[in-house]
Amino acid sequence: MIEDDAGRLVGRTLVSAASLRERVGVLGAQIAESYSDLTQPPLLISVLKGSTFFLADLMRAMSIDLNLDFMSISSYGSPGIVRILKDLETDVSGRDLLIVEDIVDTGLTLNYLRKTLRQRDPASLRTVTLLDKAARRIVPVEVEYKGFEIPDVFVVGYGLDFQGRYRNCPAILAVRDIARLANDPLVLVDQLYGKAR
Ligand code: IMP
Repeated sequence: MIEDDAGRLVGRTLVSAASLRERVGVLGAQIAESYSDLTQPPLLISVLKGSTFFLADLMRAMSIDLNLDFMSISSYGSPGIVRILKDLETDVSGRDLLIVEDIVDTGLTLNYLRKTLRQRDPASLRTVTLLDKAARRIVPVEVEYKGFEIPDVFVVGYGLDFQGRYRNCPAILAVRDIARLANDPLVLVDQLYGKAR
């Protein structure tokens, strides 16, 4: 539990570092097994930046030949309107693609990504997400593999951020008081790393 100076609860650990290690290991082995018959390596597509911690651990748990590429996308501000900031360097036509996502929330981002990648004629397209906030879904979207289903809470850590902060927290924290964090984005810094300011 993480409290502010007044003793109010700001955040709590939702998924511990140990649980992440264990689940990501199992998921990596399961996905590797499902791709083991391919004649060419699958291409993992990581969506920057939140998925990078998950990606690094997942890849090391997959003992098969594979390739990796990155995409970066950003929302235009309106729901579902997404723009590609950095595109893939790989020609994905005829390739077996695995999108590696940190979290699926409304589903709008993943829905856009899947549509965009489908238009490039891959041999197959699957998605793995570390976290699934299924209760928040606006558009139905296929997710073949998932790490944890989580409730409708804002989370940070293990790659996930709030205004660019907290990605390096080894566990996943649920932010209890999002208004408190919005007012003082450093409140968890104090709690996690000591009084640095
Ligand atoms: P969606 O388009 O609503 O599914 O949102 C997907 C993106 O929103 C994720 O890739 C994250 O960047 C961001 N996001 C959604 N929920 C959270 C959260 O709880 N913490 C941090 N980022 C989140």
